[in-house]
Parts: sequence; C-alpha cells; structure tokens
Amino acid sequence: MTRFSPARPRLVVGITGASAPHLGIHLLRCLRDLGTVETHLVISQAAHRTIELETTMCPSEVAALADVVHRRGDIAASIASGSFPTLGMAVAPCSMRTLAGIAHGYGDDLLTRAADVCLKERRPLVLVARETPLSLVHLRNMVAVTEAGATVLPPMPAFYQRPSSVEDVLAHLSGKVLDQFGIEHDVYPRWHGPVPPRPGITVQPVEGAVS
Ligand SMILES: Cc1cc2nc3c(=O)[nH]c(=O)nc-3n(C[C@H](O)[C@H](O)[C@H](O)COP(=O)(O)O)c2cc1C
Repeated sequence: MTRFSPARPRLVVGITGASAPHLGIHLLRCLRDLGTVETHLVISQAAHRTIELETTMCPSEVAALADVVHRRGDIAASIASGSFPTLGMAVAPCSMRTLAGIAHGYGDDLLTRAADVCLKERRPLVLVARETPLSLVHLRNMVAVTEAGATVLPPMPAFYQRPSSVEDVLAHLSGKVLDQFGIEHDVYPRWHGPVPPRPGITVQPVEGAVS
C-alpha cells in the first residue's frame, strides 16, 4: 500500500467518448467546489468530439475545471506511474472501447495506462460505463474489470429522491462516484427511509408487510 501525504489527495478523472460527457464535467465541478481533492484530468480524442457534439462547452473549458490536465498521448505523465500517489481514478463516462482496453490491460494511451496503474496498485478504479443495450462482449468486459478490482458504476438514474431536473440526476451520479473514494460531500440527498405519505394519499397495506 502506498503511503503519502500530499497537501491534497489526488484523483485522476478520465473522460472518454461515450455519450454524456456531462457526467465527467459534473464530477469535475463537484470536486472543484469541494476543493478537498486535486484533480488530474485526461480527455480521450473521441471525448473531444462528444463534448463538442453533446454540450455547449468546448474541450478547453472542460479542461479548465481540473487542477492538472494531461495530454492523452503523454505516456510519461505522472499518472502513468504507480509511484505517483493518487486516491484512484474515475472514468466518466467510460466508453465500451476504453472498458475493453482496461479489461485486457491494453494501456496504449495515458487514460488506459492510468487505469491500469490503479488496478496494479490496488487503488479504486470506478468506471461509469455508458452504452445501451449491452452486448455479451460489453458484459464480459465488465466482469473482467470487476474481477480485476474495478467498480462498474453505470449511469443509472435513481428516482427515490424524486429528481426534478437533469442536474439532480447528474448530482446523484457524481455523488455515487465520490462515495466510492470516501470523499465527503453533500452533492445529493441521502436516503433516510421513506417519507410519510402526503395528505390525501391512501397507502394500501402490503400483504406480509411488517406493520
Ligand atoms: C455522439 C457520440 C456518442 C457516442 N456514444 C457512445 C456510448 O454511449 N458508448 C460507447 O461505448 N461509445 C460511444 N460512442 C463511440 C465512441 O466514441 C468510440 O467507440 C470511440 O472510439 C471511443 O474512444 P475512447 O474510448 O478512446 O474515448 C459515441 C460516439 C459519438 C460520436
């Protein structure tokens, strides 16, 4: 286990070319607002395209949200080495191509290499894998990364908090990612049991339920 005490712990964030670069952008915004973690960002070539196609931001504006930005081709960057201490890495969103690369140890660019470093150093690696529907190849790669120690955290919205906006959904997902690293936050409201029924709504007793 690596022991280190940088001024702020570091988290590597990868954004790949799956749909919804908003997931990584929102995560970076949360981390910037928290201010407790130093962020190291790598954006894949395909993600440059999805950022342009799916958001109103340009890649340089996304990069400006991070503390340190690494070129995807810079295989000599700090985060390419296990000797550079980090909390781990989140890839949000994670494309099926990058998932496959990580699942098979194919560290041909900085993003997949940094993920490989997390696996070999036994650091948390969270993959916000985004595709639908999923092929057997995708599913097998998810099993492979899970067996290797990564966490597959698909961007599945929850409705128990009654989200009223895309922002609410993104906040929930960013919060779930932060939870994986033990980073304290109040990005989303946590579940504390069911709220009492609203006046005028009759709740039918469920058969077999504890009264
Ligand atoms: C608009 C757009 C949306 C895409 N959405 C997805 C997606 O949701 N999941 C996925 O695995 N690939 C998606 N792709 C394809 C990836 O960008 C492509 O496989 C690319 O090679 C991934 O490279 P990367 O893993 O290096 O980012 C999308 C491409 C475009 C242009």
